[in-house]
Amino acid sequence: MSNKPAAPGQNNSHTLWGGRFSEATDAFVQRFTASVSFDQRMYRQDIRGSIAHARMLQQAGILTDDECTAIVDGLLGIQTDIEAGNFTWSVALEDVHMNIESELTKRIGLTGKKLHTGRSRNDQVATDIRLYVRDEIDVIATELTRLQSALLDIAEREADTIMPGFTHLQTAQPITFGHHLLAWFEMLDRDYSRLLDCRKRLNKSPLGAAALAGTSYPINRHFTAEQLGFDAPTRNSLDSVSDRDFAIELAACGSLIMTHLSRFSEELILWTSAQFDFIDLPDRFCTGSSIMPQKKNPDVPELVRGKSGRVTGHLIALLMLMKSQPLAYNKDNQEDKEPLFDLIDTLRDCLKAYGDMVPAIKPKKENMYLAAKKGYATATDLADYLVKKGLAFRDAHEIVGKSVAYGIQQKKDLSELSLSELQQFSDIIGDDVFAVLSLEGSVQARDHIGGTAPNQVRAAVATCRTLIAAR
Ligand code: ARG
Repeated sequence: MSNKPAAPGQNNSHTLWGGRFSEATDAFVQRFTASVSFDQRMYRQDIRGSIAHARMLQQAGILTDDECTAIVDGLLGIQTDIEAGNFTWSVALEDVHMNIESELTKRIGLTGKKLHTGRSRNDQVATDIRLYVRDEIDVIATELTRLQSALLDIAEREADTIMPGFTHLQTAQPITFGHHLLAWFEMLDRDYSRLLDCRKRLNKSPLGAAALAGTSYPINRHFTAEQLGFDAPTRNSLDSVSDRDFAIELAACGSLIMTHLSRFSEELILWTSAQFDFIDLPDRFCTGSSIMPQKKNPDVPELVRGKSGRVTGHLIALLMLMKSQPLAYNKDNQEDKEPLFDLIDTLRDCLKAYGDMVPAIKPKKENMYLAAKKGYATATDLADYLVKKGLAFRDAHEIVGKSVAYGIQQKKDLSELSLSELQQFSDIIGDDVFAVLSLEGSVQARDHIGGTAPNQVRAAVATCRTLIAAR
């Protein structure tokens, strides 16, 4: 058979599947069905998968040693050219797989046409995306770790810094800033373990499933699985080429990461406002207004908050794409790539932004302290004090409620009331109450695992450092 492409418009013999066609694909349909504009980013995984497949064919006696060497060298040469920007992608060749395979044949001749023996684009693409997602999970996990370490650094530095803790966004009890930052750390820590869990489940090799039913060649699926760093071959060929649940899982992990980042963002945005004024973000993470000269807007956290919607949108898109698909492969699955790639890019960018920005957050400790003082944050401490002196908690609650109402009327914090003022509400209140009413006393009293006491924060930082070091 000639290697020369047929005249365009005659049939599709210039493609890798045109044999049975008698007219060319409609120009619009060609563009509509092509994925090369976006799946070309999987070229490295595609080449890696093809090399493993070629080596397996050689071991199985399907390719000679020379043929295998020609294919491997040809593929590596193509990779070099792609990376140097010397490769022309063709929409007529539909996708990354056929672009690379055609180019291989152009370069090494007939032998190139043997690469696809015992394989289909269905198991090829299923392999490529798994490899791609696995590589990206590793990058995202590294970014997460970088951000987590930054949080530990500031948490340690700010273990004694007092701020108001909130429920319902109303001042609740005093906490330390370090403790607050460790709450963020914990969310990311679960995100990290979810990512690893997803990686573990996806790390099975679909290669060898071929189009859907397997292949009649004496392939060795363990060999390719091992070459590609997979833990084992997948167990069922139909499932291997059709399900994209691993992409959905990554999207779900990503949506949670973004949901967490959106919560941090919301707090940073509030805290930089004139009304809170708890932190300063360096100018390099902010932008100005074209009309209001005084403005310094927290654009980075705002954008991250906004992008969380985009990632969760992709999760829903992937779920809906998979829903109701009959076995096995369907072209629908080509639609997995754009949401998947975009959510990966978004995650990487947002984690990078946070990893760079978090170490630069400057707490305004005095403002935090004053805010904690303003909101009757030690009211619970006064109630606990009364309980320790023998009152029932509900009675203590009532007495403190009255004391707070009196403080509001007098425009004084509980710690600013005199002993005789406090004793109007209960005569069991003694001089020792003032140690309890101070913000320092309040945080120090919460001295158990998970509590806000400064030494607990320092201990938690040490534990978390060991966790991270063991990764
Ligand atoms: N570009 C296709 C995809 O992304 C590759 C697999 C095509 N398989 C097929 N039978 N048309 O899913």
